[in-house]
Amino acid sequence: MSKGRVTSGMRPTGSLHLGNLLGALNNWVRLQDEYECFYFIVDWHALTTPGGGDAVGYEHVGELQDRVREMAIDWVAGGLDPEKCSIFVQSHIPEVAELHLLFSMITPLGWLERNPTYKEMILGYKIDSPSYGLLGYPTLQSADILAYKGEYVPVGKDQEAHVNMTRDLAQRFNSLYGAKVFPITQTLLTEVPKVPGTDSVDKKMSKSAGNYIALSFTEEETAETVRNMFTDPTKIRKNDKGHPDGCVVFAFHGIYNKGEFAVVRDECEKGLRGCVDCKKQLAGRMNEALAPVRARRRDLEANPGRIREILHAGAMHAREIARDTLDEVRDVMNLPPRGSS
Ligand code: TRP
Ligand code: SF4
Repeated sequence: MSKGRVTSGMRPTGSLHLGNLLGALNNWVRLQDEYECFYFIVDWHALTTPGGGDAVGYEHVGELQDRVREMAIDWVAGGLDPEKCSIFVQSHIPEVAELHLLFSMITPLGWLERNPTYKEMILGYKIDSPSYGLLGYPTLQSADILAYKGEYVPVGKDQEAHVNMTRDLAQRFNSLYGAKVFPITQTLLTEVPKVPGTDSVDKKMSKSAGNYIALSFTEEETAETVRNMFTDPTKIRKNDKGHPDGCVVFAFHGIYNKGEFAVVRDECEKGLRGCVDCKKQLAGRMNEALAPVRARRRDLEANPGRIREILHAGAMHAREIARDTLDEVRDVMNLPPRGSS
């Protein structure tokens, strides 16, 4: 019996932070035991926007290779096992570019223009002159998924519209060419625990907001970031009664110190716990939880050949599958066969 296929990608933002780990990555790690998983770093998608500041983009490609590499290291350090899933770089699979081209012929412009994330990206990145590639972002994403006939796509709610378009495109292709080449892809909505930013419980941890703890942080950097976290501003002395619900430190106790969560609340509210100690305790718990990830990270950093090997092996496997898909696609579209080349 063949396992269902899972495909998912992330833009190469470099080293992951706790929000990425607790959200997407832990979920991917769980899926690798039950499904045949294809996980890729979408370097082409990074080129759909100009970049600038800390972000890579078509005007800022200087850091692209490093960001891809850092992300791959953190995927493996975070628990993706190259023996169980395929880990690779999007642009190492030229078949995806070919599929994107063919899909671009049958993607109605209206679908792309209506895509809500297109408008958000233009506003969010303040893009004056959006490119053809940016408009086609979901078509490229569909090619990413369908080159491997992905049935399930674990992503957050913000990506649902893209997966829905993938499904529409697969159906359109199948019905145009009277063949069931592509599956009907489903979103596996990731139930992400809310990981707040280090600056506010009302914000999400994100690289661009700078309110994050990266997996690449040392124990001391982690402790220092915890020391600077936003707490209840009315609680100044240990015996002041606190309000844990607006406190970032408290929110993280809920993730890294679940067993004592109720105790932390109680002691804070009754003025039996000071913020300095509360933060020390949290940093200790976080550093404990992150120790194995950091150890794997150090090993991979010390052995640069290893991550290259992992990405190479992943791409070899993914390409085999994508080649078969493209053979089928060219065949049903009646493109002239390429002979034995
Ligand atoms: N668009 C996704 C994001 O911004 C990344 C992505 C690219 C992706 N291709 C994909 C996700 C294929 C799932 C499947 O997060
Ligand atoms: Fe936050 Fe802990 Fe201080 Fe309470 S004691 S305000 S939970 S840091």
